[in-house]
Amino acid sequence: MLVRLIYASRSAGMLSPVEVKDIVRSSQRNNAKLGVTGALVLSNGIFLQCLEGDHLMVNSLYHRILLDARHREPAILAYGEIDHRLYGDWAMGLVTTTEANRSMFLKYAAQSEFDPYELRPKALEMLFAEMVAHARPISA
Ligand SMILES: Cc1cc2nc3c(=O)[nH]c(=O)nc-3n(C[C@H](O)[C@H](O)[C@H](O)COP(=O)(O)O)c2cc1C
Repeated sequence: MLVRLIYASRSAGMLSPVEVKDIVRSSQRNNAKLGVTGALVLSNGIFLQCLEGDHLMVNSLYHRILLDARHREPAILAYGEIDHRLYGDWAMGLVTTTEANRSMFLKYAAQSEFDPYELRPKALEMLFAEMVAHARPISA
């Protein structure tokens, strides 16, 4: 069964570019083997990650990611069965809070600060797609 899981977490302090690249490298190496695709964005000290794939693979990967000391306060914000993947290729991007992004956040939330914890799943999925489209890609 194909599912999509979106969760948010807060980075444990300021992560160095090396630490962020290390996450990208691990993701690219491991996720392909599991048939899990998706995207990860980091903005305002908050990670937002979408994992798509077989429900057992997504579940076990999510539980592995939870053990990582580089983030805290994880929360599943959307989870469900899907007909097809939206992010067939792994992508990792960094979204910074520019004026354009502020209006993007304001479109979906009561305030222009990036705070996905308060969003409803549908709005979250739409905001996530916009963030990925605007994200500055990070190569491993
Ligand atoms: C926000 C966040 C997202 C992560 N996403 C993934 C991921 O999608 N796939 C993955 O294998 N590791 C991910 N990691 C890293 C794992 O927690 C872990 O360090 C890694 O899987 C270890 O595998 P390795 O020994 O092959 O590097 C993530 C870590 C963080 C902090």
